[in-house]
Amino acid sequence: MKRHLLPLSTLIITLLMSGAALAEISSQRQAEILYLLRHDCGSCHGMRLEGGLGPALTPRRLQQWPVEQLAVTILHGRPGTPMPPWRPFFTDSEALWLATQLKQGGRRP
Ligand code: HEC
Repeated sequence: MKRHLLPLSTLIITLLMSGAALAEISSQRQAEILYLLRHDCGSCHGMRLEGGLGPALTPRRLQQWPVEQLAVTILHGRPGTPMPPWRPFFTDSEALWLATQLKQGGRRP
């Protein structure tokens, strides 16, 4: 049962170590990710990310989560809820970058 937790903690460590790669996301790729945030995430989390089918993704609400945890949620979704995994669309670094943007709130649509 405990072994079940292993992949998740391994992933978190991987994410933490990939922090240095954050700066390598090109501005074009950043724009693509933000486009996806507005159009795909927005369909559930609200056009202005203030909530809909999914909860609001505002800095105030997200302050309870460490950025790595948010990145894991984005990559793997929340099984048993409508939140889908975005692993096919984002690398670890990209998910971390997006989670950082959400927490800071500077790039809100
Ligand atoms: C099909 C609807 C849907 C889409 C599309 C969607 N989400 Fe979600 N998301 C949800 C739901 C529902 C939850 C709440 C899951 C739960 O009950 O724990 C959630 C939870 C989350 C959470 C955790 C927030 C918290 O406080 O619990 C984050 C972060 C998140 N989504 C980010 C995203 C991002 C980023 C995208 C786009 C890449 C996205 N979501 C697209 C439905 C969606």
